[in-house]
Amino acid sequence: MSRLVVVSNRVAKATDGKGRAGGLAVALQDALKKLGGVWFGWSGSVVAKQQDKPEIVQAGPVTYATLDLTRKQYNEYYNGFANRTLWPLFHYRLDLAAFSQQNYSSYREVNTLFASKLKPLLKNDDLIWVHDYHLIPLGEELRRAGVTQPMGFFLHTPFPAMEVMTVLPSNLDLVRALCAYDVVGFQTENDLRAFLDYIVNEAGGGIMGNHLVHAFGNTLRVEIFPIGIDVEELEKTAQEVGRGKGSRRMRIKPSNRTWIVGVDRLDYSKGLVQRFQSFERFLESHPAYRGAVTLVQIAPPSRSEVIEYRDIRHTLEGEAGRINGRFGEFDWVPINYLSKSYTRIELVGFYQASRIGLVTPLRDGMNLVAKEYVAAQNPEDPGVLVLSRFAGAARELEGALTVNPYDADGVADALAIALKMTIEERLERWNAMMDVMRANNVTVWRDNFIETLRGAPYEV
Ligand code: F6P
Repeated sequence: MSRLVVVSNRVAKATDGKGRAGGLAVALQDALKKLGGVWFGWSGSVVAKQQDKPEIVQAGPVTYATLDLTRKQYNEYYNGFANRTLWPLFHYRLDLAAFSQQNYSSYREVNTLFASKLKPLLKNDDLIWVHDYHLIPLGEELRRAGVTQPMGFFLHTPFPAMEVMTVLPSNLDLVRALCAYDVVGFQTENDLRAFLDYIVNEAGGGIMGNHLVHAFGNTLRVEIFPIGIDVEELEKTAQEVGRGKGSRRMRIKPSNRTWIVGVDRLDYSKGLVQRFQSFERFLESHPAYRGAVTLVQIAPPSRSEVIEYRDIRHTLEGEAGRINGRFGEFDWVPINYLSKSYTRIELVGFYQASRIGLVTPLRDGMNLVAKEYVAAQNPEDPGVLVLSRFAGAARELEGALTVNPYDADGVADALAIALKMTIEERLERWNAMMDVMRANNVTVWRDNFIETLRGAPYEV
């Protein structure tokens, strides 16, 4: 049986047990343990001088191999091209995207470096699975270095519309690199459609049918693989929380207050400013809920060396303060804004304690918080998911109340509808979402991708 080689910018460490790592990391670790293999990527450390060889940690049949980045690589590859160019561009924030030839060169160089350090660790019949926008050119670099094993790439973020993609000066070079893989997976039909549009109308490639595309002299299989969560594990954790596991403070939620919960990395793509303003509109237009409903927003800081992330943090703090000053009372704070991380079990506690899960990104590849909120609900008295139409999850979770996050009145009305929703309707919507999530959990996602990769190379 072929081994699996996973490559991603961040590597879930061997020591990250089920309690600590997220569902995606656990699913990949489980596959690695079963098939044997390598997880390769950045160590998370920034050093003065690049080391010659990756740091290796052997855990049973799995080799964890990580490379440090120099300060220059970290600034130009990670903060620069990955997070100041591709991230905003792929999330339709042209206003925030910065373009620099220097950063693109560095991005390509880090990908070349990763390829050269990964190659000696490969065996002949390995399957190579590369993840996300940091590492698009890795496959092309591996092929240049003579690697012939099947290679797949999964994009966790959206793939933007052609008109947005072509704003990137190096767009053709980047998409050419993407086409060096045997399999390219996207989260949703929208992303796949955007990619095919680019291939046909910008790259002069062709759609050959049966999921095959021919472009830049390569044939690749393109498909959607919407990421799921480990539903059973979430349900189990939720039951434990229900029985009193976790922090004692979580169990003293005031019974006379209804919670609406949001959990997001502090990222401008998550639509947090618009979310606060929608909640403000809700308090304006539905005064009966003043004093009775609290928005609990958890937003741990992220990528804080990138200026746009520092800006969003300041803006959000200002908005929370303004809205709380406007509507708050001595015994009620409308927005409980918590800019820090919580443990997994605490998050499940927050999900369970909240009548509404408010997930309103302006653009999101999938959004697993939406799915986790649903899976953590009490099956006899589930809450309501209010979900942005621009999250990939909205394509699957038809039981959610779908909103446009730019439309504050629409979000405010959806909150009021959710708060008044009958138990019958809540149950119907929740069961529909659970059925979809059980049928397409993270194991199904992982195994579908690996099976498709096993079929490579694909020929027209
Ligand atoms: O959701 C996209 C993603 O880049 C993940 O791959 C990553 O784990 C997460 O955001 C956090 O971002 P970062 O790795 O930049 O801290």
